[in-house]
Order: sequence, then C-alpha cells, then structure tokens
Amino acid sequence: MKRAKISIIGAGNVGATAAHWAAAKELGDVVLVDVPQIDGVPQGKSLDLSQAAPIEGYDVRLTGATSYEATANSDVVIITAGLARKPGMSRDDLLIKNTEIVKSVTQQVVKYSPKSILLVVSNPLDAMVYVAYKASGFEPQRVIGMAGVLDTARYRCFIAAELDVSVEDIQALLLGGHGDDMVPLPRYTSVAGIPLPELLSEEKIQAIVKRTRSGGAEIVNFLKTGSAYYAPSAAVVQMAESIIKDKKRVLPCAAYCDKQYGVGGYFVGVPVKLGSQGVEQIIEVPLTTDEKKLMDASVDHVRQLVATIQI
Ligand code: NAI
Ligand code: 2OP
Repeated sequence: MKRAKISIIGAGNVGATAAHWAAAKELGDVVLVDVPQIDGVPQGKSLDLSQAAPIEGYDVRLTGATSYEATANSDVVIITAGLARKPGMSRDDLLIKNTEIVKSVTQQVVKYSPKSILLVVSNPLDAMVYVAYKASGFEPQRVIGMAGVLDTARYRCFIAAELDVSVEDIQALLLGGHGDDMVPLPRYTSVAGIPLPELLSEEKIQAIVKRTRSGGAEIVNFLKTGSAYYAPSAAVVQMAESIIKDKKRVLPCAAYCDKQYGVGGYFVGVPVKLGSQGVEQIIEVPLTTDEKKLMDASVDHVRQLVATIQI
C-alpha cells in the first residue's frame, strides 16, 4: 500500500511538533517547509526527528525544505505558517499579516498538490481557513480548520481534572469560532455516557467553560514568547489521521457551512465526519434558544473578521 504524504508548512512550534506526532503515529512521510530566511531549520528539525526514529521505531521519511517542490503530491497539507500570539495580543491581532502569509502559502501548496486536503491551523483560525479556501479554489470539503479538537480537548482535560476521572471517558461537543465566544455545550457533554449536568453543578460547569474559552490565553501568559503547541499539534494530527486512515471520526472542526446552523457561507466549528474525502458530513444538532444565541454571536464575529480582509 502506498504510504501517505503529509506536508507541514511552518516549521515552528506547532509545525515541528505536528511532524513529531505524525511520525510517531507512522501516518506517512512528512515534509516540513519554512521560509528561505531560516533555511536549515526545517532540514535540521527533520533530520533530528529522523534520528529519533530508530529509538522510537517509526518507519517514515522526514524531509525539510524551504521551497515547495518537496511537497509535491501530498495527501494532506497542514498549514501552520504565520505569526503566533504574544501576551496581550488576541488571535484577531494576527489577521492582516497572517492573511498575506496563508494566501501565498496556499497558492504554492495547491500548485504542487492539487488533490490534497488542507488543514489550516494559523490564526485567527476561522478567517485563515476562509483565506485558504479562496486562495486554493478547492471545493469546501477539502479545506478544514483546526480549533474544535483543541478547544474540546482543553474542556475535557478540565472536566476530567475536576471529577478526578480519566480524560478518555469525557465526550464533549463545542461549536462556533475559535475565539473567546466559542460555544461549549454542557448538554452534549458526557462522562462515560452520563450527562455532565448530572455530575457537576452549574457553577462548576460555567467556571470550566470560562477557563476553556481563555485556554489559549492562559498558556500565552505562561509562555510569554508564543502560544500553545503540544495540544494544537496533537489536535491537527488527529484530524490528519482520520483523513489518511479514512476513520470517519466525528470531530469538531472549522468546516464550510452554508445552510447548516444558518451560517451562510463561512467556516465555523461544527461536528463533522472526517474521512478520505475530507468533510464527508456536517452533523446538525438541535440547539436551545440560548445556545443558538451564543452560536449566532460567535458566527457574527467570524463574519466581521472575514469582512475586514482582502482576498
Ligand atoms: P511559530 O512562530 O513557532 O511558527 C510559525 C512558523 O511559520 C515560523 O517558523 C515561521 O518562519 C513560519 N512562517 C512564517 N511565514 C511563512 C511563510 N510564508 N511560509 C512558510 N512558513 C512561514 O508559531 P506557532 O506557535 O507554530 O503557531 C503557528 C500559527 O498557528 C500561529 O498563527 C498561531 O496563532 C496558530 N495557532 C493556532 C491554533 C489553533 O487552535 N488553530 C493553536 C496554536 C497556534
Ligand atoms: C490557542 O488556542 C493560540 O489559538 C491558539 O492556543
């Protein structure tokens, strides 16, 4: 069977760590790309990861490059190129610069991998995945943003810690944009099938929701020089795995929604079935009036962000 090929654009914290997770899971051969100004960095990180292979026992080829020829015929391309947040910055502060970067990166990627599926990580996520969609000319099911897997992982991690149970037993759903107005849904969150509101007070749940919404900022404030990368890279690799292995996992991803949830042609976080075709289904769940209000506000924010960029 042909080995899958995954290219990762941006060999910084998220990109290099995604290469690590992808190699460790033997998802396929990995190509790590960054700008010519830091020639040597993607090559050095790839070589270092290749030398860990005999210890960890993964049989994949890792390559570093500062041009796109090496990415040719990728199955999945993960875009992490761009600026990251510093303390005091919101994800939206990255908008103008990262729009230019994501647009030019996408144009190069599609030239060499016209059949690939794009997974966008760069922030502000919901706007950047829209930029990649427009710049690629791909059908919307082949352009997907990573945010919900990370945000639900944070939410699940905090719930597991509060209840002192395994993270594996927490199932959760979260909708909306990757911002402070994301919409965690306690009603659709369970611990081994037991609805969360049966196990935690409303006050405790709301404290966890609040911490989840500012989960990215909490880490930026600790790190000071950048933003989170272990969980974000693990999240995007989980999405890549579902696509490469055609697992059809149901994961919260930023997908192109038109009629679904009344979004009207933007990318926002919704539960999707991820398989070899990319987004194979968007699952619509009924929302209460309050949940719908929160979702609409989150979508409005995404709309405003997209309206301010030139693509
Ligand atoms: P980083 O600064 O460590 O790495 C970014 C890399 O992109 C750098 O190596 C830089 O040289 C490279 N780059 C810049 N312009 C490029 C271009 N035109 N072509 C190729 N490479 C280019 O940043 P980090 O921590 O890896 O974050 C990357 C992006 O991901 C940021 O925008 C960050 O905000 C976002 N992010 C999004 C998350 C999400 O949930 N969607 C979670 C974590 C980070
Ligand atoms: C995060 O949520 C910065 O978006 C990134 O950690």
